[in-house]
Amino acid sequence: MALMAPLLDVRDLHIRFGAAEAVRGISLQLDEGEVLGIVGESGSGKSATALAILGLLGPSASVTGQILWHSANSAPARTSYINLLQQPASALRHIRGREIAMIFQEPMTALNPVMTIGHQVAESYEAHAPSFTGREARRRAIAALEAVSIPDAAQRYGDYPHQFSGGQRQRILIAMALMHRPRLLIADEPTTALDVTVQAQVLELLRDLQRQHGLAMLFISHDLAVVGQVASRVAVMRSGEIVETGPSQRILTAPEHPYTRSLLAAVPTLATDRSKPLAMVG
Ligand SMILES: Nc1ncnc2c1ncn2[C@@H]1O[C@H](COP(=O)(O)OP(=O)(O)OP(=O)(O)O)[C@@H](O)[C@H]1O
Ligand SMILES: [Mg+2]
Repeated sequence: MALMAPLLDVRDLHIRFGAAEAVRGISLQLDEGEVLGIVGESGSGKSATALAILGLLGPSASVTGQILWHSANSAPARTSYINLLQQPASALRHIRGREIAMIFQEPMTALNPVMTIGHQVAESYEAHAPSFTGREARRRAIAALEAVSIPDAAQRYGDYPHQFSGGQRQRILIAMALMHRPRLLIADEPTTALDVTVQAQVLELLRDLQRQHGLAMLFISHDLAVVGQVASRVAVMRSGEIVETGPSQRILTAPEHPYTRSLLAAVPTLATDRSKPLAMVG
């Protein structure tokens, strides 16, 4: 009986910038439709790992190891995995957006400030589906904005990024990322720039879409509590290594590594008893 093969299989990944080794031999697997959280302090190598998967690190990085992707396009007769680290730029461009999409931490920098939202969404649609242009791209762009609950999407089509709230901008980026029905979404600190209420709404949207589309997700955050709300499994990174990995529930209730315990101690909501009303003064 064959075990189910993972969608993404990262093996012994090393990332060096000159003499500095940002990622020091990590391995992780992600199944179809699964949400894996990556948590760790600033500089632990989370974004570098995400960018390596998408081939977006640039020439200053030296990357070794294997990033095996179960590509939908590989012929069944051939090996069903491709090593993303060995793909030519053209193949990676094809995979980015269509098979693996990413949402970045800062919505304002990911959007072009001088181009209307509608134009940007329609353009990203046309870029991957050239047969849909003009009116059809516009119709689909509006539908995509409606799907992430942008109010009055048709009327707001001609507005610029700065005319939307931070939460709305992040919703727009989510719409753009999911436009081509990728099988894997990498979300790098998708809610960090948002205030707590809006953060909860965006997390809920991501969770809904993930379930609805059976999407696999790599959810990156420095906040263990946020990761625990979304991911079924968590990998804890520190200084370029994975120090602990396991089911979210177990990591949140019985962390084994001292570093995970220190991350958990920094999460106030878990230490606070919310079943009791707040003590009133006076
Ligand atoms: N392009 C680059 N050139 C040189 N060093 C880099 C580059 N990108 C990242 N680094 C270094 O690699 C290490 C890991 O960076 P990375 O961005 O992956 O951290 P992170 O875990 O995402 O942190 P944060 O939570 O702050 O986003 C850091 O020491 C960083 O300075
Ligand atoms: Mg980062």
